[in-house]
Amino acid sequence: MKRSLRSLDGAVLDGRRALVRVDFNCPLKDGVVADNTRIRASLPTIRYLQERGARVVLLSHLGRPKGPDPSQSLRPCVTELERLLGAPVTFLADPLGGDAATTTKRLARGGVAVVENTRFHPGEEQNDPALARSFAALGDLYVNDAFGSAHRAHASTEAVARLLKPAVSGFLMEKELSYLGGALEQPARPFVAVLGGAKVSGKIELIEHLLPRVDAILVGGAMACTFFRALGLETGTSLVEEDRVALARTLIDQAGSKLVLPAGAVIALRLERGITTRSVPRDRIPAGWAMYDISEETEREFAARIGAARTVVWNGPMGVFETPPFDHGTRAVARAMAAATATGVVTVVGGGDSAAAVAQAGLQDKMSHVSTGGGASLEFLEGKELPGVAALDDA
Ligand code: 3PG
Repeated sequence: MKRSLRSLDGAVLDGRRALVRVDFNCPLKDGVVADNTRIRASLPTIRYLQERGARVVLLSHLGRPKGPDPSQSLRPCVTELERLLGAPVTFLADPLGGDAATTTKRLARGGVAVVENTRFHPGEEQNDPALARSFAALGDLYVNDAFGSAHRAHASTEAVARLLKPAVSGFLMEKELSYLGGALEQPARPFVAVLGGAKVSGKIELIEHLLPRVDAILVGGAMACTFFRALGLETGTSLVEEDRVALARTLIDQAGSKLVLPAGAVIALRLERGITTRSVPRDRIPAGWAMYDISEETEREFAARIGAARTVVWNGPMGVFETPPFDHGTRAVARAMAAATATGVVTVVGGGDSAAAVAQAGLQDKMSHVSTGGGASLEFLEGKELPGVAALDDA
């Protein structure tokens, strides 16, 4: 049953310290933020708080440090946030230090502070109540806008939300839950899921949760080869998860005509940029060759099904999109989704690789919603409760 969460809209904010969990887990290059998508995605919440006179204290993790590690400091994100806000941002290097709470109280109304990487403290990933109490001391209310981290039961996402009240959802969190939840709960039909990626093992729960809800699942990526094997087809040197072939067979039987496998494959002797390729029907993959992308015929079929849908959710690339020419099928799906969006189809891109592919194709603004969550969107679509969401107040 879909929960209605207490929203930031309506919270008493003037002069109060809003402790906001954001997901600033951005890629860095040479000490600079290389992709600021996640920071930009949190701006509506930050600006809303500023405009209403709140003192804004941001918490985030970055990377997976094993303790304090200067190469994974949030300082580059502070620089990027200052650039985006056009105003200075206070950096709180030690949230456990005696003067941390005082610093947050001394922020000007509308002022913003960023606390150093929450994962510099071992208690963060242990969901430690003592660390959560230290975080809670930095705010008068809690806002969770970190959808991308909501699948983690950590001190800054879970324990703190149980201590600091009210604990409300930010606007990015609301948007993510509304698009992903809307697709699962009440999709306009036909509802089509496009699933790809290398391994079927990582998508089993997703397929099982989606099957009763969708009208079709279009399968691409190397995971299609495990299904081909289950059909008794030759797959050459393609990546096949032998220990999942029986399960793939069961899924084919369960799904019936809902499961749409690629009609053909783009194959090569090995994975190499610009290598000679062949396009073959799926039952003609020769020994020694491997599938690295879906065929153009498959692209056309998938595009037609996407165009005829009313709701499309996409998770996982159709081929090895990092290595051209095997990005062709993934780009074709991205273009088909963009064209569908323009005709009113609700298109939702699960985060991670598919979001990266959409960004690479420059089409992120042409989708109804591109999730900022990788693991979080996968777990949500698998039907799992996200601990960071579960800990928030009901409306
Ligand atoms: C992500 O990038 O998916 C989130 O920021 C969570 O990061 P994590 O997988 O290191 O917990």
